[in-house]
Amino acid sequence: LFAQECHFTWGAAALDGLPPAGLPEIAFAGRSNVGKSSLVNALTGRKTLARTSHTPGRTQQLNFFDLGGRLALVDLPGYGYAKVSKSLVASWTETLKGYLRGRVTLRRALVLVDGRHGIKDSDGDILKLLDDTAVATQVVLTKMDKVGKGERERRIPEVEAVLKAHPAAFPHVLLTSSDSGEGIPELRAFLTDIAQH
Ligand code: GTP
Ligand code: MG
Repeated sequence: LFAQECHFTWGAAALDGLPPAGLPEIAFAGRSNVGKSSLVNALTGRKTLARTSHTPGRTQQLNFFDLGGRLALVDLPGYGYAKVSKSLVASWTETLKGYLRGRVTLRRALVLVDGRHGIKDSDGDILKLLDDTAVATQVVLTKMDKVGKGERERRIPEVEAVLKAHPAAFPHVLLTSSDSGEGIPELRAFLTDIAQH
């Protein structure tokens, strides 16, 4: 699947601007700056498909990418905080929550969490929303190139303990780095499997 061509198809800044429901969708959700857009790029092997930045608040709409005519990857704006106004973040958050809550074609939510920081309250809110609407969820730790061995041994059980309280979330985390490539083949295989079922 990831050998197929991937291209941008649609950007939506509000719920009334979503594309018509079509392909099964995989959402990339997470706090601002966690590495959502970078992960879309790493998976597709395209450095500039999704725009990234070290300034939190880069992705300002829901961006849809068609992968081989089989799956849509949906790069969401971040929640939590950003280098833009509070009212703008609040409006993105409402839009992305509305999307996660109500999208019929949403097959999996990937909730990205910075491997250095673990699960924050704002992540807990999203995991709760996904429980309430029974969206199958996979938590993905990002930036693992920055997380040493000892820190991994603490962080992974700590995150998985939180997931026990979230029935929609798979109990184990995936470890990734868009920089080193760690976990990218495994995440591709995971998404390919979803596209085939
Ligand atoms: P918003 O769109 O603002 O919500 O951010 P985002 O979650 O899409 O993050 P983005 O992909 O733009 O990356 C944010 C910053 O983190 C950039 O400076 C990236 O280069 C950096 N980054 C992303 N992934 C990794 C990673 O795996 N390792 C390291 N070390 N840095 C990363
Ligand atoms: Mg982004």
